[in-house]
Amino acid sequence: VSAPIAAEDLLRRRKRGYTLETPFYTSREIFDLDLDIIFGRHWIYIAVDPDLPEPGDCMTVEVGSASVLLIRGEDMQVRAFHNVCRHRGARLIDEYKTSVGNIVCRYHQWTYAEDGRLLFAEHMGADFDPKCFGLKPVHVRNVAGLIFICLSDDPPTDIEAMAAAIEPYLLPHEIRNSKVVHTSDIIEEGNWKLTMENNRECYHCSANHPELTIPLYAYGFGYSPENLDEESRAQAEGYTRLLKDSHARWESCGLPSAEIDRLNTTATGFRTERLPLSGDGESHTMDTRVASRKLLGSLTDRKLGGLSYWTQPNSWHHFLSDHIVTFSVLPLEPERTLLRTKWLVHKDAVEGVDYDLDNLTKVWLLTNKQDGDLVAMAQAGVRQPGYQPGPYSPYTEELVEKFCDWYVGRMSTHLFPAASRVAAE
Ligand code: FES
Ligand SMILES: [Fe+2]
Repeated sequence: VSAPIAAEDLLRRRKRGYTLETPFYTSREIFDLDLDIIFGRHWIYIAVDPDLPEPGDCMTVEVGSASVLLIRGEDMQVRAFHNVCRHRGARLIDEYKTSVGNIVCRYHQWTYAEDGRLLFAEHMGADFDPKCFGLKPVHVRNVAGLIFICLSDDPPTDIEAMAAAIEPYLLPHEIRNSKVVHTSDIIEEGNWKLTMENNRECYHCSANHPELTIPLYAYGFGYSPENLDEESRAQAEGYTRLLKDSHARWESCGLPSAEIDRLNTTATGFRTERLPLSGDGESHTMDTRVASRKLLGSLTDRKLGGLSYWTQPNSWHHFLSDHIVTFSVLPLEPERTLLRTKWLVHKDAVEGVDYDLDNLTKVWLLTNKQDGDLVAMAQAGVRQPGYQPGPYSPYTEELVEKFCDWYVGRMSTHLFPAASRVAAE
């Protein structure tokens, strides 16, 4: 019987191009390190601006053992605080979403303003200085309407570089002028990294996602150029031409579309690209037509393909001409993960008139279910003694490798800085 191998050794010996070893998916110790280092010291995507449309709107999101409270002030700014009373530490807000005047602790009625100041605390004596007992702030960065938080006192500063790069892509879809019309929470029976790895490839799509793949190109997610027969080669080349022509067309209309990939070269890793939908495809729906007749922002062209935006460590987003689907991954346990999905349409779109909710949500509700099953299946295998890390496809799983490389790099940077591999901050 041998002693468990330390996280540090596992990180050091991780073989590039291969899946991670079992403890990364099962060990409580590594899970706790993930929460501390990855979820505690990086920018985590947790909400959209329209989750909090009005002043006083308030929501809570659990990131590891931290409960974060988001509140929109009268000045329309969204602020984030630890959801903990400064008196005796009671949790302040229980609900996922609510609306408040001030934030009042139910225990002894300490009362905080929307900016976190302690406004009222009875019977605390003449020496008590309320200025010392404001709510503890959490760093928050609203990127074109996507809300990221960082629990560290010293967040990665490269969020500004990400925002500068991505905002021109996102702004035409006007997240702030849209509304959340559906939220789905599902629990996947797997480690959060398997949820992310599964998201970073479409190698599994043709066999597992009959609905999602309706408007997708078979060659849009990478392929091995060797051994293609003539017909396949012609299709692949056709796709490359279509991508180039589509980018040229969209960019001439002021819609940035070209790929940016900083998935594993920076602390706040991300990637984006606008991809064409096949044939007459307009949107991710069963009939590939727009789900909402009222397009986002002031867009007028239904055929804008799908703008995808992936962030490390925990999100992905698809921006169509008519709607937005946005995904936030939150670890619960070493082998349990929350996937929170939101659908947004233009804020003036009327249900039953401009869009049908079932039609809007159908493809991704089914796809999420299929992905959840795949994650559970992967978890059931990687926890077994017969599992040994296997090779990623260099053509279709490049982004999975970049996720693992980013993860190993960030963990290493924080655990043994001298050996850091990711040039960060
Ligand atoms: S714990 Fe909040 S007022 Fe006492
Ligand atoms: Fe999938």
